[in-house]
Amino acid sequence: MGLLDGKKVLITGARKGIGRGIAITLANEGAIVGINDILEDQYTKKLLSIISKKEPNGSFHKGDVSTINGINAVFDSFMDTHGQIDILVNNAIFPDQQRPFFETDEVYWDRMMNLSLKGYFFASQRAAKEMISSGEGGRIICLSSVHSYIAMPKWTAYGTAKMGLRRMVKGMAADLAGKNITANCIAPGAISNRLPELDDEAVDGPPHNPDEFKRFVPSGKGGLPSDIANAVLYLSSDLGQYVNGETLLVDGGMIASQKFHD
Ligand SMILES: NC(=O)c1ccc[n+]([C@@H]2O[C@H](COP(=O)([O-])OP(=O)(O)OC[C@H]3O[C@@H](n4cnc5c(N)ncnc54)[C@H](O)[C@@H]3O)[C@@H](O)[C@H]2O)c1
Repeated sequence: MGLLDGKKVLITGARKGIGRGIAITLANEGAIVGINDILEDQYTKKLLSIISKKEPNGSFHKGDVSTINGINAVFDSFMDTHGQIDILVNNAIFPDQQRPFFETDEVYWDRMMNLSLKGYFFASQRAAKEMISSGEGGRIICLSSVHSYIAMPKWTAYGTAKMGLRRMVKGMAADLAGKNITANCIAPGAISNRLPELDDEAVDGPPHNPDEFKRFVPSGKGGLPSDIANAVLYLSSDLGQYVNGETLLVDGGMIASQKFHD
């Protein structure tokens, strides 16, 4: 018996990094996992084969979740395959997340907000519609960040979007009251998103060098996808059923001393 036996899960941007770790972890707990990504390559094929060994109905839904058309196409494909969605994990991000203040132009700003705010919102809205029409309710989880709590140079657009998500899940918890749907964020610290070797089926890839992290992370090391995936498991299973509209910070204590006023 797994904690998520038969639950149907869609994870955006799941080809690598944290999303890949979430996909394998939830499949290990009996979930039927649909992975989305804008890219399709040898890593998406490998991930699909790993999750399908745990649960034969795993699926891949290629698409861009920063546009409404893209979101609807991904959901249409997921619903055609699985008929129901129980858990949505909004996880997608593009690689160039840092941008100096004066180099943040309209194109970059829109790209960040279109994926990280608009995309996460409309994917959640579509998921909630499907969860209500199934009569089963569900769970919505958004990947925020430590950058939603603290300001560091070059992270203003990213941090603004990630802070918006923490407000967004509070709004969704209120808007979806009585529908048996919870909406929460997870705010990771510094997590290694490096892929393992292609033939390696582990949840985690290579860790960060601990020497670089022990000075500023009280836990003495960087985080791994499994640290975030276990938090997703908590919020998406019965274990976390009474947590709603909240953000779970998973950062090894990295910003503990800066969080009192939040
Ligand atoms: N890695 C960290 O240290 C860290 C820290 C804090 C928060 N986070 C958050 O966790 C989440 C996962 O981060 P990660 O480091 O594992 O990312 P990653 O870069 O390893 O993977 C992101 C995936 O999203 C996909 N993607 C990009 N744009 C997309 C789009 N428009 N539609 C669909 N897929 C798209 C990419 O192709 C990629 O496979 C993100 O929301 C990120 O902001 C990560």
